[in-house]
Formats: sequence, structure tokens, C-alpha cells
Amino acid sequence: MESPREQWSGKLGFILAASGSAVGLGNLWKFPYITWNNEGGAFVLVYLLCIVAIGAPVMMSEILVGRRSRRSPVEAFKTLGHPRWSFVGWLGVIAGVVILAFYAVIAGWSLRSFVQCVGWSVDGYEAPPEAAFGAFLADGGTQVGLGALFLGATALVVARGVSGGIERATRILMPVLFAIMIYLVVNVMFLDGFVEALVFLFRPNFSGLSGHAVLEALGHAFFTLSLGMGGMLTYGSYLRRQDSIPRIAMTVAALDTLIALVACVIMFGIIFSVPSLRATMESARSTGEGVSTVGMLFVTLPNLFYTKMPGGAVVGPLFYVLVAFAALSSTISLLEVVVASVSERLSMARGRATVVASAVVFGLSCGCALSLGANEWASSVRLFGGLERLNTLVTGGKTGFLSIFDHVAANWLLPLGGLALTIYAGWVMPAADTQDELDGVGDDGEVRRGYVVWRICARFVAPAAIGWIVVQVLLGGDFS
Ligand code: PHE
Repeated sequence: MESPREQWSGKLGFILAASGSAVGLGNLWKFPYITWNNEGGAFVLVYLLCIVAIGAPVMMSEILVGRRSRRSPVEAFKTLGHPRWSFVGWLGVIAGVVILAFYAVIAGWSLRSFVQCVGWSVDGYEAPPEAAFGAFLADGGTQVGLGALFLGATALVVARGVSGGIERATRILMPVLFAIMIYLVVNVMFLDGFVEALVFLFRPNFSGLSGHAVLEALGHAFFTLSLGMGGMLTYGSYLRRQDSIPRIAMTVAALDTLIALVACVIMFGIIFSVPSLRATMESARSTGEGVSTVGMLFVTLPNLFYTKMPGGAVVGPLFYVLVAFAALSSTISLLEVVVASVSERLSMARGRATVVASAVVFGLSCGCALSLGANEWASSVRLFGGLERLNTLVTGGKTGFLSIFDHVAANWLLPLGGLALTIYAGWVMPAADTQDELDGVGDDGEVRRGYVVWRICARFVAPAAIGWIVVQVLLGGDFS
């Protein structure tokens, strides 16, 4: 069994694969719409604080536990001599399954947008009727089919092993993604809404900030950096000894944040330059009607390509290919966590573990696919039935499988998984081990300042902040 563990070819390979995992629908789809729903400024600031003070140190912790143990999340803690901590790995596997189930469905929307854009590029653009997106969501067969297609593609890559496949793919995909984003943002700079978009994003207004918004910002920091579910731990287990974890983690966190902010500038720059669009979105937000905000990436954006942007007929379809690939490099890491854990734990061949894991995910994914209007029960189900207080507390009052899965995984499973992991790295692991992994001692034998900062964050700042936010939400606290 002890064949030498696969490794990334080098630092760049890891950075691209890890940022491939981090950059995904979280950046392009979710961050813009939750920022919109939470009214910008203050929410963005809290999110940035969460990335720097919590996300980056937790990412270093995850990667170091992975590289130290060279195992999957469920075996890592046993290998390091603390089998009782294996629950953290299992929590990650559960989070991976839950996230993948709804993520694949949304990733499927990018395939539809691609086909739609190709049609428009060939036949000329015609604005679709407003109800079209809602009708698409309520089409159960299509939702299940597109989600299944996405899961299938993910399974094909994961079944073949990681390093060759993912690394080779992300080496091409990520730079092209960056190039397209730059092209888009440069075009948005010439739109009327550009400055307004910057104001919306960066001028904080704390009066609208609720306790749930702070938890959402924290949860999203974990979601967007792929933390708290063992993804970075698993990828870290393939990292070469000589690569610097702090530098790599900071690069990945910075790239991910940059892409999320740029995606917002693009999206809001467009929305704000079409006043009627902004008005529709605002009324959707105040009535709590989700479809038009949730669908921003897929409904609002194509408008820009075909009405405002030179070369849009080429960029439009290309952009949705890239959304699909950004999503794919994330779903690969989600499935990889589950497959690596199952195959290592049960000594099952990789191929077989992939089939088993994908089948379980597909079952849950059908529930999500049908919860967008196709099936009455799946769309209106609540986690705790009629227990209103519990529903509000745990799921933010969300109904339907997809919304509930998203909310519970991002706002609870990931922060709690991350909390446990960082407590492990900060308090349970011997300092000598973490120093060794994080290159914490200089050539002069002095402990480096950067290491001390990490250790303070991992032991105190991150646990205290996560714990405080969770307790506030449990007590029904408000942060405004
Ligand atoms: N980080 C990914 C995104 O932003 C989603 C993800 C979450 C991937 C958790 C892996 C683990 O889209």
C-alpha cells in the first residue's frame, strides 16, 4: 500500500491547483450576490478582515497538517498521534458531500449560459423574457441532468488521480481566467456605473450589518478559500517539503480575494450603469425574492457582453466556459477530499471509491436540483419542520434543499471545521512541528516574527473570533 505519495511538480503547480480550488462559484456567483443582499461596504470590510485574520492562518494550519501527515483528512490526525481528532476529518468529508451536492447543480447553470451565448453570438442578441430564468430553474429534468453532467466530469478527473490531471488543466485554465477577468474589468471602467460600484463596495455603512451578516461574511471567507473541509489539508499532503507554506497560502488567499473583488466590480459596474436593472434588483432585495439576485452571474452579465462590450460575441461564450472550468477545479477538490478519505480509510481502489462517493453525492444533488421550483416539497422543506426559532437560527430561515445545504455548510460546517483544525494546529501539535512546517526558525536560530504572528492567530485570534461570532448568533445578537 505504501507506494510513494503523489506530489505537485512544484510551488507553482500547488498554487494553481489550490487557487483553482479556491476560485470558483464562490467568487463569481456567490460573493457578488451575498454582497448585494448585505448592502456592500461594511459586509465587504468584515469579509476582508475575516480573510486576513482568520482565513490565511487557518489555511496555513490546514496545509501544514496535510504536509506533516501526508494523509487524507480522516487519517491525518491518527498519523500525527491524535486519533481522537479524526472527527475533524469526518466533518470535512460530510461538508464536502453536502457542498458538492448543491455546487454541481449551480455549476450546471454555466453550461446552459454557454449554450445560450453561443446561440446569441450566432443569431444576434435578444434579451430573454424576465421569467425565463425562473422557468429554467423550475425545470427539474434539466437541473438534474446538468448537475449530473458536472458530477460526471468531476468524477472522471478524480478517478484518474490528481496531480497529472488537475495540475495540467489548472496551468492553462487559471491564467486564461485571469486574462478574461482583466479584459472585462477594463471594459467596465468605461461604463457609467464603475465609480458607483466602487463606492458600493468600499464605503462601509455599519447600520445595516446584522449578526447573521457577520456570520455570513465569516462563513464565506471559509467557503471561498476552500477551508474547514480538508481540501487544503488534502492538497497540502501532496506538497513538496521545500515549498514555503506561509508564502503559498498568502498567495492563494490574495489571488482569491482579488478575483472576488474584481467579479463584484464587473457585476455592479454593469448593474449600476443600467438604472432600470438596478431598480429591479433593489426591489428584489427588499421583497426577499431570491431569483434575480441569485441569478446575477447568469442573468445580468450576458447583457453586458452583447450590449456594451466590444468583442462581446466572443467573450460571452468564452466567459461561461471559464466559469464552468473555475467551478470544475473546485468540484475536483471537493470530491478529492471524499475519495482520498474513503479510499485510504477503507483501503478501496481509487476508481471504486470515486464511484461510491459520486453516487451518494448524486442522490443528494437530485434533491437540490428539484428544490428550485420543480418539486413543491423539495422547494419548501425546512430543516426543522415547524420549529421556527431553530430554522431561523441554523438555516437563516432558508427553505428548500439547495439553500439549506448552502447555508448550513458554509455558515456552520466550515467555520466549525476550521475552528477545530486551527485549535489542533495551535494548541495540540507540538510547536517544534509547526515551526518546522512553517519555516518558523531563521538561520540565526531565532524564531521568526511571521511564525509568532501565525501562532497568535491560530491559538487566539481565529478561535476567539469564530467562537464569538457563533455565540453572538446563538444568542440572537446583532452587530450593528
Ligand atoms: N472555494 C470554492 C469556491 O469559492 C468552493 C469550495 C468550498 C471548494 C469548499 C472546496 C471546498 O467556489
